[in-house]
Amino acid sequence: MTAIEERLAGAGSFPAGFVWGTATAAYQIEGAVSADGRGPSIWDAFCRVPGAVARGESGEFACDHYYRWREDVDLMKELGAGAYRFSVAWPRVFPDGTGQVNKRGLDFYRRLVEALREGGIEPFVTLYHWDLPQALEERGGWRVRDTAERFADYAATVHEALGDVVANWITLNEPYCSAIVGYAEGRHAPGVREGHGALAAAHHLLLGHGLATARLREQARPGQRIGVTLNMSPTVPASPSPQDAAAASRMDLLVNRQFTEPLFGGAYPADMAEVFGGVSDFSFRRDGDLDLIGAPVDFLGVNYYYRIHVADAPHVEGDPASRSAFDIGVRGITPEHARTSGLGWTVEPEGLYDTLVGLAGRYPHLPPIYVTENGYGDDGVLEDTGRIDYLRDHVTATRDAISDGVDVRGYFCWSLMDNFEWARGYAARFGLVHVDYRTQVRTPKASFHWFREFIGSQS
Ligand code: NOJ
Repeated sequence: MTAIEERLAGAGSFPAGFVWGTATAAYQIEGAVSADGRGPSIWDAFCRVPGAVARGESGEFACDHYYRWREDVDLMKELGAGAYRFSVAWPRVFPDGTGQVNKRGLDFYRRLVEALREGGIEPFVTLYHWDLPQALEERGGWRVRDTAERFADYAATVHEALGDVVANWITLNEPYCSAIVGYAEGRHAPGVREGHGALAAAHHLLLGHGLATARLREQARPGQRIGVTLNMSPTVPASPSPQDAAAASRMDLLVNRQFTEPLFGGAYPADMAEVFGGVSDFSFRRDGDLDLIGAPVDFLGVNYYYRIHVADAPHVEGDPASRSAFDIGVRGITPEHARTSGLGWTVEPEGLYDTLVGLAGRYPHLPPIYVTENGYGDDGVLEDTGRIDYLRDHVTATRDAISDGVDVRGYFCWSLMDNFEWARGYAARFGLVHVDYRTQVRTPKASFHWFREFIGSQS
């Protein structure tokens, strides 16, 4: 045992009741895109756009989890995980986004949740993990306010159907990616490059969160807890220059503060007008929205993968780095000698520590935090020592933040198994379990065994 493993194995390292789990998302694992009345989502449409997804791949079959979920629940039991975070596919519940409920879609999740609970695994349900019904995109998608209302209806419907067996609800996963990567950079569905549209999408996602939260509170069930999951990436200036410091602050606004401030600070950041004023008049904001968005939640989900090192970067016509619809003059760089993952992402566990401690310091009324995603991407090697090192170091960072007073209640590894990694397709693998997409055979990797032992050492 290395010294760090000995420390981790020490009894009492994490608070009693600390939750250990894994995470997935519907479109990334389920497949069965036309089964039992599911309607099309923006990802089904986006995957058909030539060049949108690597090798033209899609979630059409993915891990075939829609049919193999029992086997996947068994894997979780073998892992000894106490919780599982997954998402409900909106187009399974409302094939057209609104209107007629598709009961067969809801039944799938009911079966899954019941099996989880029988296996002693607590479900954490994400209501929106990027698969907007295509019919709603055709009516404006997240650019329009109506989508936030439809999201609240959908959330209330799922909650009505599963509220007796699901206690933990996450409204949104990473609204930054839905809004900015989807509507400004166009690297994700719906694949457009708009400035005003992307900022409107960000606002309407937050509004959808607020409206859904209000509806779930009205339908309150004993013990129910509502949260929202944000991707958090601390930004670090690439050099000591004031230009790079300003660039890092703009990037921080775009990725982090645009979401944390209205949710936990009561207002949009003051620098939004200065940084984004050129592309939007923010006319989508209405009186009362901030009260809805900032209504208290029971927990914050943090997805952490990396820090962003930022340099000031003037716009260069035709440069892919300047491809976003609104160019805020920033460029992410990889520092020399940086430790990187198999995907080239920087590995900096201190970024997770800083995120947790930073949030707790900044927002006096911050609810308890769950690390709802953290993980390591590579090519799928079974002896995945890089993943073990990554997980161990980030679990340690989480524990250090707890020791320093941050109320963190759980940690979910992304992901239970290899899956459809959005625009990167199937080549980028984050699983504790390897998936052979040809045969659908699941094979636990070394990291699975490591995590199982680690979880076991904690109970
Ligand atoms: C965050 C997203 O929520 C998830 O869907 C994705 O696969 C992981 N990051 C890894 O990129």
